[in-house]
Amino acid sequence: MRSIVAANWKMNLPEEGIDEWIEAVLRQPAGDGVEVVIAPPFPYLAAIAGDVGGRSMRLAGQNVSAHESGAFTGEVSPAMLRDVGCTDVIVGHSERRQLFSETDDLISRKLESASKAGLSPILCIGETREIRSTGKTVEHVDSQLKMALGSTEIDDLVVAYEPVWAIGTGENATTLQVEDAHGAIRKILRDLGYDEVPVLYGGSVKPHNAAELAAAEGVDGFLVGGASLVSAAFLEIIAAVADAR
Ligand code: PGA
Repeated sequence: MRSIVAANWKMNLPEEGIDEWIEAVLRQPAGDGVEVVIAPPFPYLAAIAGDVGGRSMRLAGQNVSAHESGAFTGEVSPAMLRDVGCTDVIVGHSERRQLFSETDDLISRKLESASKAGLSPILCIGETREIRSTGKTVEHVDSQLKMALGSTEIDDLVVAYEPVWAIGTGENATTLQVEDAHGAIRKILRDLGYDEVPVLYGGSVKPHNAAELAAAEGVDGFLVGGASLVSAAFLEIIAAVADAR
């Protein structure tokens, strides 16, 4: 199985400077078989593409429009992301779902249009604290996956399991919670006809918990938010995934 570590900068930039961050991460070999992806805010994609082009880091959009072109002020099409050098795109992040009211239906259409344009989508799913407390985590990710993937076959799919309560809170899911969720997600994916999909974990991944989480059964890497803003921390997390392979 592929191993992937993706940096989601969200609407932030590394304090050390973008160029310094890129150089630091590129300087260090990621370790055999670990793929590194960076998702900066849209305006920085083209410049970063110039830095990482042909080197050992891939570039992702944090979001994409479901439309190909037209009167959609503020939106960015899949073809435009490809044009500036993206190979990957994050779809359905919980912040998009919660703060920008993205529905499962919209996420499904975004996946379809991204995939049609040749982008590899990182589909984010995960439960809120309330859903977990009522014991409905598996039911919830099952519905998210089926609604997102129901209609068309998506090539080069990657799934990120990101419990909403663990994102940006410093409270990561436990190994047991991660193993249970990843096991269930893999089974659902298999039932949907997706056999070789890397399943990443995301939610307060930090250098101090990366080794344990990377060793958890069914974890193929991480989607990292806060800790990805510091190159040294991000490199430690990459190393933890490389060691766990
Ligand atoms: P976090 O964010 O690592 O800051 O918790 C993860 C994410 O939102 O992908």
